[in-house]
Formats: sequence, C-alpha cells, structure tokens
Amino acid sequence: MTGASIRHRDDGSVELRVNGLFVMDDVETSSERVLARSVLDAGAYDVLVGGLGLGFTARELLADPSVEQVIVAEIHPEIADWMRDGIIAGADLFIDPRFDLRIGDVQEIVPTIPAACLDAILLDVDNGPDSLVYADNARVYHSEFIQLCASRLRAAGHLSLWSQADSAPVRAVLAEHFAVVTAESLPVNLQGRTENYWILRGQGPKAPR
Ligand SMILES: C[S@@+](CC[C@H](N)C(=O)[O-])C[C@H]1O[C@@H](n2cnc3c(N)ncnc32)[C@H](O)[C@@H]1O
Repeated sequence: MTGASIRHRDDGSVELRVNGLFVMDDVETSSERVLARSVLDAGAYDVLVGGLGLGFTARELLADPSVEQVIVAEIHPEIADWMRDGIIAGADLFIDPRFDLRIGDVQEIVPTIPAACLDAILLDVDNGPDSLVYADNARVYHSEFIQLCASRLRAAGHLSLWSQADSAPVRAVLAEHFAVVTAESLPVNLQGRTENYWILRGQGPKAPR
C-alpha cells in the first residue's frame, strides 16, 4: 500500500502510517522535538526538515522566535491537506510565514536549495536507515546525498538524521563529509517500556575533495 494514512485511535491519539508502515503517533514525540532542539541550541536560523509527519519537529523550530525559515520537504501532500482541513493538528503551522512546505521527495528538493545557505538539515523520513518506508529512501543515507546536504550548509552547519537504531555505516558516511560526527541516544517511553531512539549528526561540512 503506498501513500499515507491516519488512524484516530479510541483513546484520542493519532497514528501516522506511510506505505502501510507505522511511522509515528502523537503520544511519544520527544525525539522528534529533540531533533529540532539540538540545532536550536546551536543557533540555527535557517533550517530544512525532511518529512512533515505530524509536524512536531517543525513546530518546535517555529516556537523559537530567532528561527527565520523552516523549509519542510514532504512527499505526501495529503498530510498537509489533513492539517489544513483540521482532520489532524497542524493548521497552526500554515499560519506562520516562516513555514515553507514543499511537496516532493527530499532528494529532489535539497538540490533546489542554493549552496551554503542553511544552518541545519534535519532528516526524519524513515524509521531509520535500516527501516525504510520506501526503497528509494536508501539513497538518503548514501554518500552522494549526504555530500549534497553538506554543500547546502553554512560552515558550522549540522545534518541530523533521526533513527530508531544507531548505524555505524551512516556514521562512517557522515564522517566522509563532516568534521565532527556524533550519535546521541534518546531514551523514550513506549507504553511503559523504555527504548532508545537515535540522532546521528554531522557538524561542520568538509570542503568537497
Ligand atoms: C516519521 S515522519 C516525520 C516526523 C516528523 N519529524 C514530526 O515531528 O512529526 C516521516 C515523514 O517523512 C515523509 N517521507 C517519507 N519519505 C520521504 C521522502 N523521500 N521525501 C520527503 N518526505 C518523505 C513521510 O510521508 C512522513 O510524513
């Protein structure tokens, strides 16, 4: 099944599926918000987010008045329609003039961004590099696309990738293109049990060789 779908659960929470796979709900959203906070704390003003989802990363960015623009690349236009129509929360995002939603594959949208004009790129389009929602998303974690992202960042810029597991191969690819690579483990409470999600991050794009 391709496309996105929403389920309103009996307890009032909302679940998002993409291509038939569970990608998130609105119950445990701490890691989506930390994805934004970690670059806000580093002074990011111009940010691109891959994957609108239920809008938690974008909303956290926009809550900071020093942020100047939040470009969001989302492959499924129906998610934005549900927000605008009030079927799910998110209409507030569209009122903010700094919010710039671009419908399409993030792999097609990043190349349209001029070089060295973003402080951060935040990618949360899958459940992680080992748990893709679309097979084509495998290229998001390959050297060519990571290098393209690095080229769109300013000198101290960050590329952060959300993942449900750590990934040594992705850290190695980040290290090809960034001066500093970190993997941050985020404990999350999933219906009473603790698991760890991850943010894999490259900071300081290296000059292309
Ligand atoms: C886990 S959700 C993002 C969650 C988001 N960080 C939040 O705070 O709600 C993943 C989103 O990425 C979108 N997506 C998947 N592949 C994509 C791609 N190649 N380009 C753009 N969006 C994509 C999905 O449709 C979904 O909306």
